[in-house]
Amino acid sequence: MTGEADIGTMDGFVKGVHDVVTRKLPRYLQSLPVPKSTAGYTQLGQKEVLILLWPTLLVFSVLYFTWCALFPDTPKKGTVGINASIHLDRDKVVNNVSVADIEDTATKAYCRCWKSKKFPYCDGAHNKHNKECGDNVGPLIIKGKSA
Ligand code: FES
Repeated sequence: MTGEADIGTMDGFVKGVHDVVTRKLPRYLQSLPVPKSTAGYTQLGQKEVLILLWPTLLVFSVLYFTWCALFPDTPKKGTVGINASIHLDRDKVVNNVSVADIEDTATKAYCRCWKSKKFPYCDGAHNKHNKECGDNVGPLIIKGKSA
């Protein structure tokens, strides 16, 4: 029984779409005061302009959203992803640290949140980021042998 009801509902919907596409839409389009020449657009009255406004906006909206869907913008560096400010002029940010640079008694904290003003070192900016975003990032801490 449910299947029959669904078929009836779907059949009614399909008939409705058919009616709109084959009869109502063409009648509506024929009723629009579309000028036959470019000069005709300058002679449109206020009423005709208002009548043409909504279908024109609809057509341009459909074209715009179709264009955006087919040709999405390539995001600019710093607008997406985790790194919003550090060496955006580079294709890849790489920092090297030699083990010899780390003293036996030293402790170094390296930023992993990309928010530090002292990058690649941690300056505690991850705390603000975590609080604002509900994240849990923190630094990589490297301790010397006797630190
Ligand atoms: Fe980035 Fe601490 S500031 S991890």
